[in-house]
Amino acid sequence: MRSDQKPKGCFITFEGIEGVGKSTQAGLLAEALKQGGVPVCVTREPGGTPAGEAIREILLHRNATPIDDNTELLLIFSARAQNLTQVVRPALAEGRVVVCDRFTDATYAYQAGGRGIPRERIAQLELWVQEGLRPDLTLLLDAPVTISRERAQGRGNAADRFEREHIDFFERVRGEYLRLANQEPARIELVDASADMATIHKLIYARVRRAMQR
Ligand code: TMP
Repeated sequence: MRSDQKPKGCFITFEGIEGVGKSTQAGLLAEALKQGGVPVCVTREPGGTPAGEAIREILLHRNATPIDDNTELLLIFSARAQNLTQVVRPALAEGRVVVCDRFTDATYAYQAGGRGIPRERIAQLELWVQEGLRPDLTLLLDAPVTISRERAQGRGNAADRFEREHIDFFERVRGEYLRLANQEPARIELVDASADMATIHKLIYARVRRAMQR
Protein backbone atom coordinates (compact mmCIF):
# COMPACT_ATOMS: atom_id res chain seq x y z
CA MET A 1 0.00 0.00 0.00
CA ARG A 2 1.29 3.48 -0.78
CA SER A 3 1.85 5.58 2.32
CA ASP A 4 -0.47 8.35 1.10
CA GLN A 5 -3.42 5.95 0.89
CA LYS A 6 -5.39 6.04 4.13
CA PRO A 7 -6.25 2.49 5.15
CA LYS A 8 -9.95 1.70 5.64
CA GLY A 9 -9.75 0.04 9.03
CA CYS A 10 -9.19 1.50 12.46
CA PHE A 11 -5.89 1.23 14.31
CA ILE A 12 -6.22 1.10 18.10
CA THR A 13 -3.25 0.81 20.43
CA PHE A 14 -2.98 0.14 24.18
CA GLU A 15 -0.21 1.66 26.25
CA GLY A 16 0.89 1.94 29.85
CA ILE A 17 3.54 0.74 32.28
CA GLU A 18 3.62 -2.86 33.51
CA GLY A 19 0.70 -3.94 35.70
CA VAL A 20 -1.91 -1.38 34.61
CA GLY A 21 -4.09 -4.06 32.99
CA LYS A 22 -3.60 -3.04 29.38
CA SER A 23 -3.38 -6.58 27.95
CA THR A 24 -6.54 -7.57 29.85
CA GLN A 25 -8.36 -4.52 28.49
CA ALA A 26 -7.09 -5.14 24.95
CA GLY A 27 -8.48 -8.68 25.16
CA LEU A 28 -11.83 -7.52 26.55
CA LEU A 29 -12.15 -4.90 23.82
CA ALA A 30 -11.34 -7.36 21.04
CA GLU A 31 -13.87 -9.83 22.42
CA ALA A 32 -16.62 -7.19 22.70
CA LEU A 33 -16.00 -5.96 19.15
CA LYS A 34 -16.09 -9.52 17.79
CA GLN A 35 -19.38 -10.16 19.62
CA GLY A 36 -20.71 -7.04 17.91
CA GLY A 37 -19.78 -8.49 14.51
CA VAL A 38 -16.79 -6.20 13.95
CA PRO A 39 -13.83 -7.81 12.12
CA VAL A 40 -10.91 -7.57 14.52
CA CYS A 41 -7.20 -8.28 14.35
CA VAL A 42 -5.26 -8.58 17.61
CA THR A 43 -1.52 -8.16 17.73
CA ARG A 44 1.22 -6.98 20.06
CA GLU A 45 4.66 -5.38 20.12
CA PRO A 46 7.30 -6.41 20.30
CA GLY A 47 5.86 -9.50 18.63
CA GLY A 48 2.79 -10.26 16.57
CA THR A 49 4.64 -12.29 13.91
CA PRO A 50 6.98 -15.30 14.16
CA ALA A 51 10.02 -13.06 13.54
CA GLY A 52 8.67 -10.42 15.94
CA GLU A 53 8.08 -13.01 18.67
CA ALA A 54 11.66 -14.27 18.26
CA ILE A 55 12.88 -10.67 18.65
CA ARG A 56 10.65 -10.32 21.73
CA GLU A 57 12.43 -13.32 23.30
CA ILE A 58 15.78 -11.58 22.84
CA LEU A 59 14.47 -8.26 24.19
CA LEU A 60 12.67 -9.62 27.23
CA HIS A 61 14.47 -12.71 28.41
CA ARG A 62 18.09 -12.84 27.30
CA ASN A 63 19.97 -11.56 30.29
CA ALA A 64 23.29 -13.34 29.90
CA THR A 65 24.64 -10.81 27.41
CA PRO A 66 23.89 -7.12 27.86
CA ILE A 67 21.94 -5.39 25.09
CA ASP A 68 23.10 -1.96 23.98
CA ASP A 69 20.39 0.76 24.03
CA ASN A 70 20.66 1.34 20.27
CA THR A 71 20.50 -2.40 19.60
CA GLU A 72 17.36 -2.55 21.73
CA LEU A 73 15.81 0.35 19.79
CA LEU A 74 16.63 -1.20 16.42
CA LEU A 75 15.30 -4.61 17.45
CA ILE A 76 12.03 -2.99 18.52
CA PHE A 77 11.67 -1.26 15.15
CA SER A 78 12.65 -4.48 13.33
CA ALA A 79 9.79 -6.31 15.03
CA ARG A 80 7.54 -3.32 14.24
CA ALA A 81 8.45 -3.31 10.54
CA GLN A 82 7.55 -7.00 10.31
CA ASN A 83 4.30 -6.55 12.24
CA LEU A 84 3.27 -3.65 10.03
CA THR A 85 3.98 -5.49 6.78
CA GLN A 86 2.68 -8.89 7.75
CA VAL A 87 -0.22 -8.08 10.08
CA VAL A 88 -1.26 -4.44 10.62
CA ARG A 89 -1.34 -2.99 7.10
CA PRO A 90 -3.08 -6.01 5.51
CA ALA A 91 -5.71 -6.04 8.28
CA LEU A 92 -6.37 -2.29 7.94
CA ALA A 93 -6.64 -2.67 4.16
CA GLU A 94 -9.33 -5.33 4.74
CA GLY A 95 -11.24 -2.85 6.92
CA ARG A 96 -10.49 -4.59 10.22
CA VAL A 97 -10.13 -2.95 13.59
CA VAL A 98 -6.54 -3.63 14.63
CA VAL A 99 -6.03 -3.86 18.40
CA CYS A 100 -2.31 -3.64 19.13
CA ASP A 101 -0.91 -4.16 22.63
CA ARG A 102 1.80 -1.43 22.65
CA PHE A 103 3.21 0.49 19.70
CA THR A 104 5.53 3.45 19.08
CA ASP A 105 4.39 5.49 22.09
CA ALA A 106 6.03 2.70 24.12
CA THR A 107 9.29 3.39 22.29
CA TYR A 108 9.17 7.07 23.24
CA ALA A 109 8.22 6.12 26.81
CA TYR A 110 10.75 3.31 27.39
CA GLN A 111 13.64 4.07 25.03
CA ALA A 112 13.53 7.91 25.23
CA GLY A 113 11.99 8.37 28.69
CA GLY A 114 13.47 5.27 30.32
CA ARG A 115 16.81 4.82 28.54
CA GLY A 116 17.46 8.43 27.58
CA ILE A 117 17.74 7.94 23.79
CA PRO A 118 17.08 11.25 21.98
CA ARG A 119 13.47 11.50 20.78
CA GLU A 120 14.66 12.69 17.35
CA ARG A 121 16.37 9.35 16.74
CA ILE A 122 13.10 7.54 17.41
CA ALA A 123 11.19 10.02 15.23
CA GLN A 124 13.52 9.20 12.30
CA LEU A 125 12.90 5.47 12.64
CA GLU A 126 9.17 6.10 13.06
CA LEU A 127 9.06 8.02 9.80
CA TRP A 128 11.10 5.40 7.97
CA VAL A 129 9.28 2.30 9.22
CA GLN A 130 5.72 3.63 9.50
CA GLU A 131 5.66 6.02 6.54
CA GLY A 132 3.04 8.19 8.20
CA LEU A 133 0.94 5.34 9.60
CA ARG A 134 -0.07 6.19 13.16
CA PRO A 135 -2.78 4.88 15.49
CA ASP A 136 -6.26 6.38 15.12
CA LEU A 137 -6.72 6.03 18.87
CA THR A 138 -4.39 5.18 21.73
CA LEU A 139 -5.68 4.14 25.13
CA LEU A 140 -3.12 5.03 27.77
CA LEU A 141 -3.87 3.22 31.02
CA ASP A 142 -2.30 5.13 33.84
CA ALA A 143 -1.65 4.36 37.50
CA PRO A 144 1.08 5.36 39.97
CA VAL A 145 4.24 3.27 39.55
CA THR A 146 4.09 1.81 43.06
CA ILE A 147 0.59 0.42 42.45
CA SER A 148 1.30 -0.98 39.00
CA ARG A 149 4.55 -2.60 40.13
CA GLU A 150 2.78 -4.34 42.98
CA ARG A 151 0.25 -5.72 40.50
CA ALA A 152 2.93 -6.82 38.02
CA GLN A 153 4.94 -8.54 40.78
CA GLY A 154 1.76 -10.19 42.09
CA ARG A 155 1.49 -12.17 38.84
CA GLY A 156 4.24 -14.43 40.13
CA ASN A 157 6.16 -14.70 36.82
CA ALA A 158 9.90 -14.27 36.82
CA ALA A 159 10.71 -10.62 36.05
CA ASP A 160 11.80 -9.96 32.46
CA ARG A 161 14.63 -7.66 31.34
CA PHE A 162 12.42 -4.55 31.58
CA GLU A 163 10.63 -5.54 34.77
CA ARG A 164 14.00 -5.83 36.51
CA GLU A 165 14.57 -2.09 36.02
CA HIS A 166 14.64 0.26 39.01
CA ILE A 167 11.51 2.17 40.07
CA ASP A 168 13.10 5.44 38.76
CA PHE A 169 13.12 3.95 35.26
CA PHE A 170 9.35 3.38 35.43
CA GLU A 171 8.77 6.88 36.83
CA ARG A 172 10.54 8.26 33.74
CA VAL A 173 8.56 5.94 31.46
CA ARG A 174 5.29 7.04 33.03
CA GLY A 175 6.36 10.70 32.84
CA GLU A 176 7.05 10.37 29.11
CA TYR A 177 3.68 8.65 28.52
CA LEU A 178 1.91 11.51 30.31
CA ARG A 179 3.87 14.05 28.30
CA LEU A 180 2.76 12.35 25.07
CA ALA A 181 -0.88 12.32 26.24
CA ASN A 182 -0.64 16.00 27.02
CA GLN A 183 0.90 16.70 23.62
CA GLU A 184 -1.66 14.70 21.62
CA PRO A 185 -4.97 14.77 23.50
CA ALA A 186 -7.03 14.10 20.35
CA ARG A 187 -5.31 10.75 19.73
CA ILE A 188 -4.31 9.62 23.21
CA GLU A 189 -7.09 8.92 25.69
CA LEU A 190 -5.81 8.89 29.25
CA VAL A 191 -7.61 6.19 31.23
CA ASP A 192 -7.48 5.98 35.03
CA ALA A 193 -6.33 2.40 35.57
CA SER A 194 -7.23 2.41 39.26
CA ALA A 195 -10.97 2.03 38.46
CA ASP A 196 -12.44 -1.49 38.32
CA MET A 197 -12.00 -3.66 35.24
CA ALA A 198 -15.64 -3.52 34.07
CA THR A 199 -15.84 0.28 34.38
CA ILE A 200 -12.62 0.73 32.40
CA HIS A 201 -13.82 -1.68 29.74
CA LYS A 202 -17.12 0.19 29.30
CA LEU A 203 -15.33 3.51 28.96
CA ILE A 204 -12.83 2.10 26.45
CA TYR A 205 -15.53 0.37 24.39
CA ALA A 206 -17.54 3.61 24.08
CA ARG A 207 -14.41 5.58 23.13
CA VAL A 208 -13.42 3.02 20.47
CA ARG A 209 -16.93 3.02 18.99
CA ARG A 210 -16.64 6.80 18.61
CA ALA A 211 -13.26 6.47 16.91
CA MET A 212 -14.66 3.88 14.49
CA GLN A 213 -17.32 6.31 13.30
CA ARG A 214 -14.81 8.92 12.17
P1 TMP B 1 4.54 -6.25 27.77
O1 TMP B 1 3.89 -5.47 26.69
O2 TMP B 1 4.16 -7.65 27.78
O3 TMP B 1 4.45 -5.54 29.08
O4 TMP B 1 6.12 -6.33 27.50
C1 TMP B 1 6.79 -5.68 26.53
C2 TMP B 1 8.00 -4.99 27.10
O5 TMP B 1 8.68 -4.36 26.04
C3 TMP B 1 7.64 -3.90 28.10
O6 TMP B 1 8.47 -4.00 29.22
C4 TMP B 1 7.96 -2.62 27.39
C5 TMP B 1 8.95 -3.02 26.33
N1 TMP B 1 8.83 -2.21 25.12
C6 TMP B 1 9.75 -1.19 24.92
O7 TMP B 1 10.64 -1.01 25.73
N2 TMP B 1 9.61 -0.41 23.80
C7 TMP B 1 8.64 -0.62 22.87
O8 TMP B 1 8.56 0.10 21.87
C8 TMP B 1 7.70 -1.69 23.09
C9 TMP B 1 6.62 -1.93 22.08
C10 TMP B 1 7.83 -2.44 24.23
